[in-house]
Amino acid sequence: MIKINQFSFLINKWYKYYGRKNLPWQINKNIYTVWLSEIMLQQTKVITVIPYFKKFILYFPNITTLANASLNEVLYLWTGLGYYARARNLHKTAKIITLKYKGKFPTIFEEVINLPGIGRSTAGAILSLSDNQYYPILDGNVKRILTRCYAIEDFINTTKTENKLWEISKNLTPIYNSGKFNQAMMDLGSIVCTRIKPKCEMCPINIFCIAYINKTWERYPKKNIKKKILKKTIYFLLLQYNQYIWLEQQSKTGIWGGLFCFPKFNTQSDLEFWIKKYNIKYNLFKKLNIFHHKFSHFYLNIIPIQLKINIKINNINESQKGLWYNLIKPSLLGIPTPVNYFLQFLKKQF
Ligand code: ADE
Repeated sequence: MIKINQFSFLINKWYKYYGRKNLPWQINKNIYTVWLSEIMLQQTKVITVIPYFKKFILYFPNITTLANASLNEVLYLWTGLGYYARARNLHKTAKIITLKYKGKFPTIFEEVINLPGIGRSTAGAILSLSDNQYYPILDGNVKRILTRCYAIEDFINTTKTENKLWEISKNLTPIYNSGKFNQAMMDLGSIVCTRIKPKCEMCPINIFCIAYINKTWERYPKKNIKKKILKKTIYFLLLQYNQYIWLEQQSKTGIWGGLFCFPKFNTQSDLEFWIKKYNIKYNLFKKLNIFHHKFSHFYLNIIPIQLKINIKINNINESQKGLWYNLIKPSLLGIPTPVNYFLQFLKKQF
């Protein structure tokens, strides 16, 4: 039986010795740095986030500078971090806060959770970490710890399990110093109670953990039978006029929403049709090496086709926002990782 006070005592003691206290967002901490880091840390490891956070803070030291930036600048700095809806929501939220809250991040839970991109756990993390307000959290780390501790056999992605876990998290979170406890739980989840090969011998709460006692950590959290990871093939058209490459802005929705990308097609004949449609006369048509890109839920095979032209065309795809990207003097745009890869490749060739 878990003793609630003892649980948080042991967690906090572990944090004192082994927790992270000097991450960039923990130095000169305020609600803005906590919000920004929590959004970046969604589905992303601390080690990946660090350089992005540092760059962001340098460009946008506060909410006002972020709100006044263009979405392109924000997406540019986010390039490579993935899940770009987070960047779009971050920008949208900064604008809302400027207009509705006079640039001051709200500190009332109901107001925070109503902001774009902020769910219950992130709202709880923001207010507990920045202001010590008593709110539980339930991110992936905490879910892993609790399902193992309590040997929760139900599938993790059901409302019933979620509700059960929220109830447990709420009961375990101490009223005072909730922020420290929440940070300690997230650190314990990412350092000790890891998805594979957890370091149970180092865990301060292993005495309470049913999965540890029964040596069954692998069973929790119980995931739905894995859906087959989908594979998709697309064609990129690398249309090149001297040092200029044609890029098009993607519509706001979708995985690369708002980012700049080469014209892309499902088949080579679609791509060839496009070339004909715009009456493009080329002097090189070259298939380059296939590029494999992994998303969390599918694999993308990209077949790049380089097309060199002698005359710059300006009437391409009027419906999309397109531009000639200068390889030598690149503008600040949000660009997906595989597009960036090919731009670097073309730059080296030039
Ligand atoms: N994941 C989400 N938020 C986090 C945080 N504050 N520290 C470590 N991992 C996290």
